[in-house]
Amino acid sequence: MKTGFIGYGSMGKMIINGLLESKVICQDNIIISTRTMSKLNYLKEKYPKIEITSNKLTLARKCSTIFIFVNTGEVKNILEEINDYLIKDVHIVHICAGLPIKTMEQAFNGKISRIIPSLTSEVNEGISLMVHNDKVSEIEKNKLEYLFNNISQVKVTSEEDIGMATDLTSCAPAFIAFILMQMSHSGANKSGISTIDAEEMMIKTFYGTAKLLHEKEIGFEELIARVATPGGITAEGIKSLENDLPPAFNNLYKMTSNKRENLKKELDKQYGV
Ligand SMILES: NC(=O)c1ccc[n+]([C@@H]2O[C@H](COP(=O)([O-])OP(=O)(O)OC[C@H]3O[C@@H](n4cnc5c(N)ncnc54)[C@H](OP(=O)(O)O)[C@@H]3O)[C@@H](O)[C@H]2O)c1
Repeated sequence: MKTGFIGYGSMGKMIINGLLESKVICQDNIIISTRTMSKLNYLKEKYPKIEITSNKLTLARKCSTIFIFVNTGEVKNILEEINDYLIKDVHIVHICAGLPIKTMEQAFNGKISRIIPSLTSEVNEGISLMVHNDKVSEIEKNKLEYLFNNISQVKVTSEEDIGMATDLTSCAPAFIAFILMQMSHSGANKSGISTIDAEEMMIKTFYGTAKLLHEKEIGFEELIARVATPGGITAEGIKSLENDLPPAFNNLYKMTSNKRENLKKELDKQYGV
């Protein structure tokens, strides 16, 4: 049997290419389908043995594992389209941020895993969150973990915590980039430093800080203490952040949680929950 992939957008492209480049999947063992088929031309040129089809039913008939990488609202249509053609015991894996397994089970009553990837997998870094329903076997869980550990670090989580974990891993690259952008642009606005120079300073400093935290395993508090000497200038900056940031992040998590709840309500309606 083959491994199938439906959807070749931002995430689909990143994951499929990452898995092929790290050689944990073979080009002659996968089959891909997407809506705009021309987007697959370059992949087909690079990996000529990949089977490509615009017919999802062909894919469904041939695959023991199917990854669905399409937009959240499209998943149900696809499940309805392929349901009658799926092989027995097929394992469906989706990556939709707002679609709980319990909701998806209304449309597909089999093995379901949910993975929340992060854009950081484009450089084989970051965390992929993973959760399974109780029909998925240990062997299948291990296989998925093996695949995604090659392009990230896998963290198995619960459906209850996956929302906040998504904020911390999958949404966070955008939050972090926004914070760094604001920090560098404010610095540029209050000085003669150009925006380009300020951004370069910020990115290099952020990269070095991440390396210190990750490679040297310096904790947040130790790192802060080593820079913010008591009575110094950095300590004064930290006082301001202590005041301003907790309410800002409380509000951020409130907004993302509300959005997630609204999306869940819409999907419950779509799936007839
Ligand atoms: N972006 C992130 O950082 C991120 C992180 C975690 C999870 N996710 C989740 O990943 C999912 C995909 O996100 P994305 O950013 O990759 O979106 P995207 O760039 O819009 O890609 C979606 C892909 O699905 C294809 N598609 C849509 N409907 C289809 C259908 N009926 N049949 C076949 N293919 C279809 C699209 O085709 P076209 O090329 O024709 O549009 C496109 O290739 C979303 O559910 C999102 O919640 C995203």
